[in-house]
Amino acid sequence: MVTMLILILLPVAFLLPPRAGAGEIIGGKEAKPHSRPYMAHLAIQHRGDSYICGGLLVSENFVLTAAHCNGDKITVTLGVHNIREREESQQKISVRHRIPHRQYNETTLYNDIMLLELAEKATLNRWVDTIALPRTNERVEAGAMCSVAGWGCTRRGSKSISAKLREVDVVVMPDDTCLKNPNVQYHIYNSSIMMCVGDPKTSKDSWEGDSGGPLVCGETAQGIVSWGPPTPPGVYVKVSIFIPWIQATMRRLQP
Ligand SMILES: *[C@@H]1O[C@H](CO)[C@@H](O)[C@H](O)[C@H]1NC(C)=O
Ligand SMILES: *[C@@H]1O[C@H](CO)[C@@H](O)[C@H](O)[C@H]1NC(C)=O
Repeated sequence: MVTMLILILLPVAFLLPPRAGAGEIIGGKEAKPHSRPYMAHLAIQHRGDSYICGGLLVSENFVLTAAHCNGDKITVTLGVHNIREREESQQKISVRHRIPHRQYNETTLYNDIMLLELAEKATLNRWVDTIALPRTNERVEAGAMCSVAGWGCTRRGSKSISAKLREVDVVVMPDDTCLKNPNVQYHIYNSSIMMCVGDPKTSKDSWEGDSGGPLVCGETAQGIVSWGPPTPPGVYVKVSIFIPWIQATMRRLQP
């Protein structure tokens, strides 16, 4: 989420919508190491600042993330559990092309989606693997239980990010929970391209630094952490709407 992206540096944080730049998992627990082999750790350099985001491996050489995670330079590490350690499972790969959605709008956060073409193919193994994307326009019903993971902040108001991957279960809410929410931040919510996720009666949420990571429902990456205020619900990119864009973009770069 824009607030979810792991915002390490404050100056950038001001430019980003809540969760857009950083994020962390709130109310969750440490993930079982390597139980989510599709998770990508993104280290972002932008105008002298550093951020982190999450992403998901969709093919041997493409990672999907949020457009607000874009920067001057992005380094992808796959197979990570603890980013502060040199795990034998880790594959650090630079990015050849960053392709944010052409209609990404920093103000409305519409189309907050980006593909990263890796400079070399990842080696798929038990620590590194792809995740399935939904079918075009596939719907996730309100009430569905999904999960989100990230290396983002674990407490609101703290800038400390988590070295180890953390995860939390979150429930898909009806669109009205965001559309009719009195918090002014939700006025940009658009139910045709966004998902409203996380029960406002709980604290379970993604947060700064988690941005770009997948919302996983069953075996499928249905959402991408995008933005939200400091409390649930958070707002996720509705991935199923962007399947034609994802397929066309990958085909264009990889004839
Ligand atoms: C982003 O959306 C705002 C509000 O609808 C609009 O005024 C602005 O022109 C848009 N920016 C771009 C770059 O499309
Ligand atoms: C919501 O997004 C769709 C798809 O981009 C767009 O056609 C529609 O105009 C948007 N709705 C509003 C209220 O901006």
